[in-house]
Amino acid sequence: MAYKEFTPKDYSQLKGLIGITDEQIQAHLDLYRGYVRRCNSMLKTLQELDPTSQAWQEERRRLGWEFNGMRLHEVYFDQIVKGPGSNDSKQKIASALSPVFKSFDDWVKELKSAAVIPGIGWVASYLDKVSGQVINVWVNEHDQGHLAGLQLIFILDVFEHAYGKYLPFTERKKYVDDYFENVNWDVVANRLA
Ligand SMILES: [Fe+2]
Repeated sequence: MAYKEFTPKDYSQLKGLIGITDEQIQAHLDLYRGYVRRCNSMLKTLQELDPTSQAWQEERRRLGWEFNGMRLHEVYFDQIVKGPGSNDSKQKIASALSPVFKSFDDWVKELKSAAVIPGIGWVASYLDKVSGQVINVWVNEHDQGHLAGLQLIFILDVFEHAYGKYLPFTERKKYVDDYFENVNWDVVANRLA
């Protein structure tokens, strides 16, 4: 048995964003590559360690943190490549949001409110295909608070490194507003399929 290695995705086109500097994105991408590297080394180590050992148990326990650190960043970067997308996509998203949210803007407003909850983590929006509705949640760090089995349609990084340019914390709202200006809504709408 051998796991496939993960390869860091190429985000070199993420330059010249609205309100977010190239240096800020570069620092963020460096962190992302670290998650990919540690995820690969952890999967390799897990196969080498004795599964009855404490070391194996601890590595196994930490895997979700590193994996989510990698994958959530990919979702976050993917949705700001070549924004802003079409109005048709916003309409498609709005249809999926009804009747929980009155409008697309109503959904964005709730995400922005969640994005300034004190703490480090992510704001996530999911489509629950079982109940047929979209639900927004706060995810603590990378791994606490995800909703099992739901389709992730939007994610916003609110770790301090993501809005570092805007420190202190009171400026976090500016980062959130700028990030939304860069979102490619076509990418988000395609996740509803
Ligand atoms: Fe991040």
